[in-house]
Amino acid sequence: MHSTDHLAASRYARMRWNTPLSEEHAALLLRRLDVRPGARVLDLGCGWGELLLRAVAAGGVAGPVATRGVGVDTDEAALARGRRLATEKSLNRHVAFVMGEAAAWHEPADRVLCIGSTHVFGGTGAALDALARVVRPGGRLLLGEGYWQSDPTAEATRIFGADVTDLAGLVEAARARGWRLLHLSTADQREWDDFESTWLAGRQEWLLTYPEDPRADQVRAELDDRLRQYVGGYRGVLGLAYLVLGR
Ligand SMILES: C[S@@+](CC[C@H](N)C(=O)[O-])C[C@H]1O[C@@H](n2cnc3c(N)ncnc32)[C@H](O)[C@@H]1O
Repeated sequence: MHSTDHLAASRYARMRWNTPLSEEHAALLLRRLDVRPGARVLDLGCGWGELLLRAVAAGGVAGPVATRGVGVDTDEAALARGRRLATEKSLNRHVAFVMGEAAAWHEPADRVLCIGSTHVFGGTGAALDALARVVRPGGRLLLGEGYWQSDPTAEATRIFGADVTDLAGLVEAARARGWRLLHLSTADQREWDDFESTWLAGRQEWLLTYPEDPRADQVRAELDDRLRQYVGGYRGVLGLAYLVLGR
């Protein structure tokens, strides 16, 4: 493998999932999502679908009615990782990873996950409307969405855009669109620091292994910029809320 291939492979290598979320917090969210045996679980913007796979496993695949899952994403490498994970967990017959636009998916499911991916629908409000059409009546949505935890700096607004609201604004956006809130929790500082660290760590390790690679200067500059933006711009400012919503 050429070092540039190692570079591509290193990008998400240290991440369990692509969101600020501890194991313990993930387990809480899955309990609140309450996946029932035989349920259909859909993850829009699934990445490699670690949480989707856990949701399907939580519903159970061994009984008379197996839980089934579908993950939709546009990143072929992430989908391939999801298929490998599904095979490792013996869930490959129960979970499909589909290359596609999340907003174009119309087949409803009992439990829908959309974490860090509302931008693909055109923002929070548009996502809450679109997701209402793919959650079956009596179903639940696990939404992972950014919010301003404290007043945004100009830098944070430039990076994340004007669509972001405070937590009250996010909860109200869901209420106004007919969703009922079943659970609310937010990522804490340690989850954020771990998320940002693991996002950088794959390529930091690549840099330490291949310091002479022709791409090293560019990668070093990108990572340094991101770290500066985080610690100097949006650490403690951008929050991530997890809402379990029903309708
Ligand atoms: C912040 S990541 C979150 C991934 C995953 N939900 C998780 O929590 O690990 C956002 C994901 O949205 C995907 N994405 C971007 N545009 C998309 C689109 N138009 N349709 C589907 N997925 C998209 C990206 O490839 C990426 O995997």
